[in-house]
Amino acid sequence: MITNNQPPIINIMEKAARTAGKKLIRDFGELEKLQVSSKTLGNFVTNADVRTEKILKESLEYHYPNYGFIMEEEGNVTGKDKDNTFVIDPIDGTSNFIHGIPHFCIAIAKLSNDTISDGIIFNPITNEFYWASKGKGSWLNNQRLRVSNRKKLEECVIGASSIEKDLNSIDKLNFLKKNSVSFRNMGSAALDLAYVASGKLDAFWGYNLNLWDIAAGIILALEAGGTVTTSNFDKWDISSRDILASNSFIHSKVLKI
Ligand code: IPD
Ligand code: CA
Ligand code: CA
Repeated sequence: MITNNQPPIINIMEKAARTAGKKLIRDFGELEKLQVSSKTLGNFVTNADVRTEKILKESLEYHYPNYGFIMEEEGNVTGKDKDNTFVIDPIDGTSNFIHGIPHFCIAIAKLSNDTISDGIIFNPITNEFYWASKGKGSWLNNQRLRVSNRKKLEECVIGASSIEKDLNSIDKLNFLKKNSVSFRNMGSAALDLAYVASGKLDAFWGYNLNLWDIAAGIILALEAGGTVTTSNFDKWDISSRDILASNSFIHSKVLKI
């Protein structure tokens, strides 16, 4: 449902995501017909990823013909307007999608120069539509979002993505686990960040991620009152590959570890 306080660009992103999402719902019900190819080990692409991205790009460029695109499947397209760029992950959580696990989403962000100005995350199976725009807050359907206010690490649940790819991170992860911190690796970095924004997760720690995995989720977390840095406490920017996003209260506690 499109609400009145949504900026026009969010309405357009929502329309694109819901159009593409209808086809994803159908595919999800007919998974055996999907063709799957492996890009690299553990990183799959389906014909649904490619088709979804095409629908999203066509819908967005109809309204914003001069904007550039950074897309997971098709790559980068430079626009006439060098200041504005859409960042698209057509399905974040493809391995969940392939396994019939209803935890995946469409993620679209808009960059204004190098700053994330808007983002949407849409899980077509659960019909959860998250959006955020700079200065306008974070929303789930019609509800304003706020990060959690848990302060004790042992009461927190932290999302972790691709940490296992980094040996140093495994040590840190094990240390945190030994100190009773609960982790979840649920297979969609974008949804993890939307969950931080909505207070379900208290933090998200991700390693070796691409801009399309996290851009939409970052503006959601920030606009919901969260803190986002790299895992070394540096300022996060669009070239950063790792991220710690949290409810702000536990940020330095996690970083200290
Ligand atoms: C993946 C998910 C996952 C993360 C991987 C990503 P994809 O994206 O975000 O949570 O751990 O590094 O590649 O491949 O499903 O779009
Ligand atoms: Ca992704
Ligand atoms: Ca993807």
